[in-house]
Order: sequence, then C-alpha cells, then structure tokens
Amino acid sequence: MTRAVGDTTGSLLITGISTLVTNDPQLGEGPLGLITDAAVVISGGSGVSGEEIAWVGPASRAPAADQMYDAGGRAMLPGFVDSHAHLVFAGDRTAEFDARMRGLPYTAGGIRTTVAATRAASDEELSAGVARLVGEALRQGTTVIECKSGYGLTVEDEARLLRIAAQHTDEVTYLGAHVVPAEHDPDAYVELVTGEMLDACAPHARWVDVFCERGAFDGDQARAVLESGIKRGLVPRIHANQLTHGPGVRLAVELGAASADHCTHLTDADVDALASGTTVATLLPGAEFSTRAPYPNARCLLDAGVTVALSTDCNPGSSFTTSMPFCVALAVREMGMTPDEAVWAATLGGARALRRDDVGRIVVGARADLMLLDAPSHVHLAYRPGVPLISAVWQRGRQVVS
Ligand code: NIG
Ligand code: FE
Repeated sequence: MTRAVGDTTGSLLITGISTLVTNDPQLGEGPLGLITDAAVVISGGSGVSGEEIAWVGPASRAPAADQMYDAGGRAMLPGFVDSHAHLVFAGDRTAEFDARMRGLPYTAGGIRTTVAATRAASDEELSAGVARLVGEALRQGTTVIECKSGYGLTVEDEARLLRIAAQHTDEVTYLGAHVVPAEHDPDAYVELVTGEMLDACAPHARWVDVFCERGAFDGDQARAVLESGIKRGLVPRIHANQLTHGPGVRLAVELGAASADHCTHLTDADVDALASGTTVATLLPGAEFSTRAPYPNARCLLDAGVTVALSTDCNPGSSFTTSMPFCVALAVREMGMTPDEAVWAATLGGARALRRDDVGRIVVGARADLMLLDAPSHVHLAYRPGVPLISAVWQRGRQVVS
C-alpha cells in the first residue's frame, strides 16, 4: 500500500531498494555506505518524530511498520543539499546569455540588470519566483536549498529579499556585497554593507557572503564585509576565485568560513590552504557551463584531501539551473570526479558546506529527506545525463514528489 502525498500518519517501511546511498561508511560499503537490497523506515506520527529516519539496513532484517512502500528495485539517496543559490530576483538575462554564446565574456556587471528588475518587483512577484524555483529543485531531488540576497543592494531591498527568502528556506544568506550598485562609490557602499544594511539584514540571515572578484569586491573589502557579519553572529561563506586568481579562498580559510564557492582559478597555495583548514570547497559547474569558462579541477582538490561540495549556483546570470543531477553529470564528465564522489558532494558535501548534520545522510535520527531514482544505481545520475530520473521524493518524512 502506498500512503497519500503529504500523509505522515504511522511509520513507513520502504523496501525493494536496489542500492541505498547512506553516506555512512559504517552502515555499508565504501565512502557512500552503500547497501544493496535495502530497506528504510521513516518514523510514524506528525511533528519532529515523523520527520526522522527510524531504521536503515538490509531488507531481510527490516522491522514491521504501519505502512509499506515498494521501491521496485530502484536506487535511493539522501535528498540533494544545494548549498549555493540566488533565488530572489525578477526578470531574466536571456539576451546576455545569447550574446555570451556569440562570444561575449561573462562579467560581474550583468548583476546590475537583475538588480533593476528586482527593485521594481513586488514582494508577491518575488516570492512566487522563489516558490517556482524551489518547487523545480524539489522535483529534481533537492530537499535543502540555500538562498542569498544580493539583487536589492539598498538597505530596504536587501532586508526585503532576505525576508522573502526566509519564507522558503532556513538557509538564508546576506549578500549585500554582491556588486557595487551604479549609484554608489565602492568605499561608501562597503560602509553601508557593513553598517546600516547589516543592521537591517542580520536578523533575517544565518550567513554572510561577499563576491570577492575583480569588478566586485577586493580582498580588503571582502574581509571587512565578512568580519562585520561575524561580529553580528553571521557565519561567513564567500564567492571566491571564480573569474580570476585572487585572495578570496585564502581569506575564507583564515576566517574559518563554512565554504569557499566557485574555486575555479586556484594556485597551489589556495589548495594547500583549503587542505589545511575546515572550509569546504563548493564547486558550481553550472556556472562554468553557462559562461563557457574552464571548469575547476575537482580532482586536484580531492587528492589534496579538501572537502568538496557541489551546488547549482542557480541565478539568472551565470547559471540558470536548479538541477543537481545536471551538476553531478557535469562534475563527473568535466571535473574529474567519480560518480561516487559527485553524489557525495551533492548530498553530504552540501550538508557540510551548510554545517548541517541532520541532512545529507540516510542514518537513524536524520531528517527523512529521501529520493528514489528511476534507475537501479546512483551512478545513473552521471551515466544518463539530462534524463529525468527522480521518481519520488520525501522531505521531512512527507512524500512531496510521486
Ligand atoms: O555566483 N558570482 C557572483 N554571483 C553569481 C552570479 C550572479 C549574476 O550574474 O547575476 C554567481 O555566479
Ligand atoms: Fe553565486
């Protein structure tokens, strides 16, 4: 019997799982903790207990439960954790993309086009846009998604964008330092971002971010932004080394940032710094795909022992995709990752980048965020690129895609 979408009454036993990715090496084979012919029990009742995984193991030892779901020989994974996305915006940048595909380069300046459209949009329009993208992501297996501000760039608009983001996710990031808006000089703008704008935004965010790049903010400005956020209780993360070599990655490690994102242009010193610290390197291959840029060298980071996450960077300028399966396929084909490494990076890697231990794994006590693939193995995510393989998704124990 299959319970209805949204019903959390009673415990649910999912059997017939051909391959289960637990991401716990103690539970199964290899770093992904793979169990073949597996079963999972989601605990019964509503509220917190109904959100959790109650049992994981071989189907032959599965306990009884109130309800049953037959996975029919399909693979089950934790929901994707997309730790880097810009979802609150209006308009699109189709013309810019088209021009780029005719040979123009990507620059930070295009952000201002989206800022103008976003400032002119109503709260309702912006919120509907976020809901659409979050829904799109969910249908592709993403059960946790981070969301940044950064297209408001005034005190009122940045706070507004964060309030809207918080209606859709707990992982909200203050990115007032996305680019210097046309009406400001850079120093005055950094003062605003680290002062009055931070005061208005800090109550609505968990994270502080800055775009450290030529054409955006330099190392000193990025340091000022992150340090002011830290003083207000926000945890730093950073856009670093996307378009050029720069100080961003080393700054991230020095400040103990949760994540350094992009990491496209790295020196040996950057890789050494990441390997010696706790900062996750979050790679965003959708951005390289959509800007026709060279991909980051994931192999080099992994071989150095760096923790790597994969995310979409969903935004209207450099990477307009919500698809984590697409990013997994790109990471394997273009960045030297194995399918196992890419799947780990898109699930538990993302959780590490968000400093979460309740998601990204299928273990007892974790949030019941699960997806079933219309395939017998997680490897198919890379092996069958562009194919809609996500056939069912549970979020907090509720089946939200069927
Ligand atoms: O992560 N690099 C800075 N921000 C986004 C791009 C934003 C835009 O182009 O609108 C990124 O790629
Ligand atoms: Fe980004």
